[in-house]
Amino acid sequence: MANSNREAIWQTDGAQKRSAVQKMFAEIAPSYDLLNGVMSFSLHHRWRSDAVKLLRIQPGEKALDLCCGTGDFLPPLNKAVGEAGFVTGIDFCLPMLEHAQKKVSTPHLSTGDACQLPVASESFNAVSVGWGIRNVPDIDLAHREIFRVLTKGGRFVSLDMARPTNSVMRILSEFVFNTIVPKLGSIFGRTQAYTYLPKSTQRFKTREELKVSMEQAGFVEVRWKNLMFGNICIHWGLKP
Ligand SMILES: C[S@@+](CC[C@H](N)C(=O)[O-])C[C@H]1O[C@@H](n2cnc3c(N)ncnc32)[C@H](O)[C@@H]1O
Repeated sequence: MANSNREAIWQTDGAQKRSAVQKMFAEIAPSYDLLNGVMSFSLHHRWRSDAVKLLRIQPGEKALDLCCGTGDFLPPLNKAVGEAGFVTGIDFCLPMLEHAQKKVSTPHLSTGDACQLPVASESFNAVSVGWGIRNVPDIDLAHREIFRVLTKGGRFVSLDMARPTNSVMRILSEFVFNTIVPKLGSIFGRTQAYTYLPKSTQRFKTREELKVSMEQAGFVEVRWKNLMFGNICIHWGLKP
């Protein structure tokens, strides 16, 4: 794709967004984990544990990590379900899944699209999505798909970027994400992808809109919790 086209990944929608995002993650797969660690000061592991706790997983349950990428949600999920349980990861980007393969001894990974899950209805007790929902072409449809594949009483948690509600913090964050993060990405030759991060966050649904989208999909008891001064937000809900 020509550079001029790639500058607008965050402005794309529908099928165009799907293929642009898929290509972008294929390109950044080798440096994704390293940059994730640097940009979050390694705090992302703690945020993932917080999210997994909200799933209230019981030993023996089945969990799906959707948009699993390089698989950092898989070890805490595996620990939560225990030996009698089952965890599977789904992502539409094979190079990301190849990295996930190395993280758990018996990974169950599949390629698949969040908006059209290759999974039977009511197959999982818990679904996690980390930094994935922002990237899908149709968030409402992805929420309906997640609802469909959960059993009754199933839990869903989604962790993603958010815009701080405090105006001073928002100005500070926008400075960091619009200037420092793309510069960090450029060290790895990934300026585009790490410009996509702040731009897609600005275009992303608000906390309230995400809650409404989850409720319209059928989730109840939908809540959210801010992390990192409101730069990250966890949403969770229950399938009644
Ligand atoms: C920012 S990464 C997050 C990876 C991982 N969840 C984590 O916590 O590090 C976003 C992931 O979502 C995947 N993704 C984006 N859109 C998708 C879609 N429509 N269907 C499936 N996977 C998708 C990308 O391929 C990428 O691996």
